[in-house]
Amino acid sequence: ATYDAEGYTHFMRKEIHEQPGAVERALGGRLDERFHTAHLGGLNLDAREARGIRRVKILGCGSAYYAGQVGAQLIEELARIPADAEPASEFRYRNPVVEPDTLYIAVSQSGETYDTLVAVQELRRKGGRVLGVVNAVGSAIARECDGGVYLHAGPEIAVASTKAYTSQAVVFALLALHLGRIRDLSPSDGRRICEGLRRLPGQIEEILKQEDRIAALAADLATYRSMLFIGRVRGWPIARESAQKLKEVSYVHAEAYPSSELKHGPLALVNPELPTVAIVPDDDLLDKNQSTLGEIRARRGRVLTVGHRELGDDSLVVPKSEPELDPILLTIPLQLLAYHAAVALGNDVDKPRNLAKSVTVE
Ligand code: G6P
Repeated sequence: ATYDAEGYTHFMRKEIHEQPGAVERALGGRLDERFHTAHLGGLNLDAREARGIRRVKILGCGSAYYAGQVGAQLIEELARIPADAEPASEFRYRNPVVEPDTLYIAVSQSGETYDTLVAVQELRRKGGRVLGVVNAVGSAIARECDGGVYLHAGPEIAVASTKAYTSQAVVFALLALHLGRIRDLSPSDGRRICEGLRRLPGQIEEILKQEDRIAALAADLATYRSMLFIGRVRGWPIARESAQKLKEVSYVHAEAYPSSELKHGPLALVNPELPTVAIVPDDDLLDKNQSTLGEIRARRGRVLTVGHRELGDDSLVVPKSEPELDPILLTIPLQLLAYHAAVALGNDVDKPRNLAKSVTVE
């Protein structure tokens, strides 16, 4: 069968709705219920090597980079290995120190992004060990890596990444679980994460049912010239990815900021003309986040919260997951928000101006 947006107005909307299935496939056969861990066949990394990893560095571009930021947090939380993400393009141009006990991970939907590919080649030249988290099987980046994990998300056509992004985050959770269980993650925490992962597809279905309400909110928010997206720790990569998504498809200016940094700058911009989207999960930072919301409201800024309870004038509520996995679900309503803002403004959603699905040149 040919792949088209049949039954859907756009590929982006179709791919948002394909996410429960994409997550099922990313998890497929990889969870081990007996030892509460994950098996990832293509890693080429035995337990002794995995224990020797001192640091993890994740490289990607665009949404893949933001998925990498979510991944770095998961690896640091579950496996207790210092981890961070960096744009592949920055990494390749700054003559990075390549360490033998660092695990490098390249993340890419297409597997063809030039900046990511060159970063991998530079790493290999310098003896770095690189894993790929890639969707396209047999792609250039997948072939260059020492091992890796495929997403199995299926083809993604819309320029703005949705299901591949979510599958990347899920694969990072599997990798973090795998590394964690080789190191210090307890069997009971391993079981907790396994069970949380299994619940994700059904929980994504629940979020997708809120589409009509999100579309109405999006049409309203699309009338503003600019928006602020804020989040703290686990919410911070979500704010970045969601602001990016809104910009890409709606062309509404959006700026992402860590909630904690608001008072060090962007609070000066807050007024009734600048709405804020705040990522506010029910976790140990809820009180801190609520006081940030108070500061915005005191300047009569409109607030849309995305979290696990009604918190403001407008709230999008998603099902609760395990705290480490919450970012995977909190992103989904904001994909729909960006999509429907673009539709409300009459934009070419699947092919935003000036952008390409895969940037294979310098
Ligand atoms: C382009 C696309 C983005 C994508 C990025 C990385 O900039 O417009 O949507 O996230 O490339 O692509 P990749 O295929 O490496 O994930």
